[in-house]
Amino acid sequence: MAGFKLKVTPEMESLTDVCLSNSKMDVSLYGKYDVKRGLRDINGKGVLAGLTQISAIHSTDIVDGKVIPCEGRLYYRGYDIHELTQGFLKEGRFGFEEVAYLLLFGTLPDEKELASFRRILSEQRSLPRNFVRDVVMKAPSKDMINTLSRSVLTLYAYDTNADDTSLPNVLRQCLNLISVFPMLSVYGYHAYNHYIKGKSLYIHHPDPKLSVAENILRMLRPDKKYTHLEATILDLALVLHMEHGGGNNSTFTTHVVTSSGTDTYSAVAAALGSLKGPKHGGANIKVVKMFDEIKKEVKDWNDDEEVGNYLRKLLNREAFDKKGLIYGMGHAVYSISDPRAEIFKKFVEKLANEKGRTKDFALYNSVERLAPKIIAEERHIYKGVSANVDFYSGFVYSMLDLPTELYTPMFAIARIVGWSAHRMEELINMDKIIRPAYMNVKSVEDYITLEER
Ligand SMILES: CC(C)(COP(=O)(O)OP(=O)(O)OC[C@H]1O[C@@H](n2cnc3c(N)ncnc32)[C@H](O)[C@@H]1OP(=O)(O)O)[C@@H](O)C(=O)NCCC(=O)NCCS
Repeated sequence: MAGFKLKVTPEMESLTDVCLSNSKMDVSLYGKYDVKRGLRDINGKGVLAGLTQISAIHSTDIVDGKVIPCEGRLYYRGYDIHELTQGFLKEGRFGFEEVAYLLLFGTLPDEKELASFRRILSEQRSLPRNFVRDVVMKAPSKDMINTLSRSVLTLYAYDTNADDTSLPNVLRQCLNLISVFPMLSVYGYHAYNHYIKGKSLYIHHPDPKLSVAENILRMLRPDKKYTHLEATILDLALVLHMEHGGGNNSTFTTHVVTSSGTDTYSAVAAALGSLKGPKHGGANIKVVKMFDEIKKEVKDWNDDEEVGNYLRKLLNREAFDKKGLIYGMGHAVYSISDPRAEIFKKFVEKLANEKGRTKDFALYNSVERLAPKIIAEERHIYKGVSANVDFYSGFVYSMLDLPTELYTPMFAIARIVGWSAHRMEELINMDKIIRPAYMNVKSVEDYITLEER
C-alpha cells in the first residue's frame, strides 16, 4: 500500500501558535470555579455521573469521617474479583465465558446456562461471507485497534437491522461483536504481517469447541499449538480486563455515545478510539517498550540506585518517549494497590520461571518497588501510586509470544463485554442524552470588520 504523507507546513505551525495563545487556560481557574480536572477530585474520586449495577471499585475507606486510601478492591456484579477468579481457576475452567455471562446478565450461570451461552457464542463467531477478504485484508493498518474499528464500522453495512436499538437486537449485536473480536484482531494482524511486513499469510478458523483464549492462540500461531498454562493465563488476563466501572474512559464513552440513541457499531467504534490512547488501553505496549529501553540503558538490573536514576530520567522527560511517565504505574482511581495487578502477579512469576525470564521478572519487581517513591518525589501525589494491571499484562503477552500489535486488542477483546453490559444498562435505564457543562471564561468581544482587524 502506498504511503500518503501530508506534512505540517510552517504556515500550520504559526497557526498552531495562534491557537495556543488563545486557548491556553489559567490552571488556577479550575480551583477558583471548583471545576474537577479530569472529572475527578485530588483523591481520585470521580464526579458522580451515573448509577450502575455492573461493577464496583473501592479505593478508599471512610475512617472517623475521613477519606483514607485503602487496598484496591474490584467487584463484578457484587462478586469480589479475587473470589471469582479463584473460583474458576480452582475448578479448572476457563473464565471468559462465565464472567461475560455474569457481567451481561447480572447472575452467575449454572452448568446448563453456561453450556448454552458457550454454544451461542460459538454460533455467533462468524463473519459475513468474504468479510475477511473484502474488509480485513484491504488497506491493512499498522495499528490493530484502527483495523478493529474499521471492521466494526463496516459490519454496520452488513447488518440488515443495524439501527434498531431495542434490547434483543442490541444484545444480538453485542454477542456477535464479543464473539468476532478475536477473529477481527488476529486476522487484522495477519494482514498487516503479510502485506506490510512481507511475512507469510495464514488464516486458521476458530474451533467452536474451544474457549476464547484458546481460539486466540490457535488462530495466531502457525502450528495452532499452545499449552494449557498459556491459555489459562491469557484467559485470566481477559477476565481481569473485562470491566472496570462506568467511569473509565472507554466505558464512559460508551455511555455518552449510547445516550445519543446511535447504533451499537458507532458506540463500540467510539469506545475503541478511547481505548487506543496510551493513558488507557495503549499503556501495555508502552510498558514493554519502556522496559526494553531500561534493559538496554541500565547495566546492573540489581542496582536500585542505577534503576532509580533511570526512572528519574523518565519522569524528567529525558528518556524513552520523553512524555514524563513511568508506564504501568498509577491509576485514576486506585492508590495503594490495583487488585487486578496483584492477582496477575502471582501467575506472572510462575510463567516467568517456566519461560526462563526470572531476571526480567526481578527487574519488573524492582521498578514496581522503586517507582512509587520516585514519582512521589517528583510529582504532587495526593492519593498514592502503585502498579496497575497493565504493568504486568504486556510482560505476560511477551512471554506468550503475542506480537506487540495485539496487546491493546487483547484489552478490547475483553472490554467489549463491559462496554456491552453498560450499553444495555444505559438503554434500559436512561432516556436522557448525556450533556454536562463547560464554563466559558472568555469575555464577550465586539465584532471587528475584516478591514479593521
Ligand atoms: C493512569 C494515570 C493517567 C492516572 O493519572 P492521574 O489521575 O493524574 O493520577 P494521580 O492523581 O494519582 O497523579 C498524581 C500526579 O502523579 C503523576 N503520575 C501519576 N502516575 C504517573 C506515572 N505513571 N508516571 C509519571 N507521573 C505520574 C500525575 O501526572 C500527577 O501529576 P500532576 O499533578 O503533576 O499532573 C497516570 O497514572 C498515568 O499516566 N500512568 C501511566 C500510564 C498507564 O500506565 N496507564 C494505564 C492505566 S490502567
